[in-house]
Amino acid sequence: MAENIYPIFDKMLQREDREALLKQKGVMIWFTGLSGSGKSTLAIALERELHQRGILCRILDGDNIRSGINNNLGFSESDRTENIRRIAEVSKLFVDCGIVTLAAFISPTKAIRQMASEIIGKKDFLEVFVSTPIEECEKRDVKGLYAKARRGEIKEFTGISSPFEAPEQPFISIDTSRQPLEASVKMLLEAILPKIH
Ligand code: ADX
Repeated sequence: MAENIYPIFDKMLQREDREALLKQKGVMIWFTGLSGSGKSTLAIALERELHQRGILCRILDGDNIRSGINNNLGFSESDRTENIRRIAEVSKLFVDCGIVTLAAFISPTKAIRQMASEIIGKKDFLEVFVSTPIEECEKRDVKGLYAKARRGEIKEFTGISSPFEAPEQPFISIDTSRQPLEASVKMLLEAILPKIH
């Protein structure tokens, strides 16, 4: 009987309800680029700036995710695809909570990034290409991995023995060898803040 039915209580809360609670929109900021290009550094610096502005964020990055949820995956093309597929599914849950979600993964091919954007939803997916040239990444070699890859101690290393395909139309491109971190973060903030409010 209609008199005993209260449909409003049956209505599961929607993304919009959570976004209204947080007073922000959920977006996916997807950093792609070579190992050592500066993806995580940019994501961490951007997260700080956003947090200071009262915006709730969450970073997902390669070395952390690969030591937890994806600790059974390597660097073959199919493992990289599975790596990114799981990350995209998890990111989608964060975005659906209204959280500004920052992902820092090499995500080396167009097909892999295309898959991620389809899982998350193209309209929420902002692709940031960290375009720092390989010469600079190799010179930095923060983790000593380029040297190992050159010696043949790491197989299928992105940029050396495994491909990296640059995005054709990223939302924004940043070459960390050409400007200081602060300038890059400013560029990112100016591009991204309008998408959040
Ligand atoms: S992705 O290709 O699947 O997107 P992801 O971003 O998760 O890669 O992990 C990349 C990180 O794993 C690198 O920054 C580096 O520290 C480490 N790594 C270890 N082996 C490789 C490899 N063969 N190629 C690239 N990165 C590797």
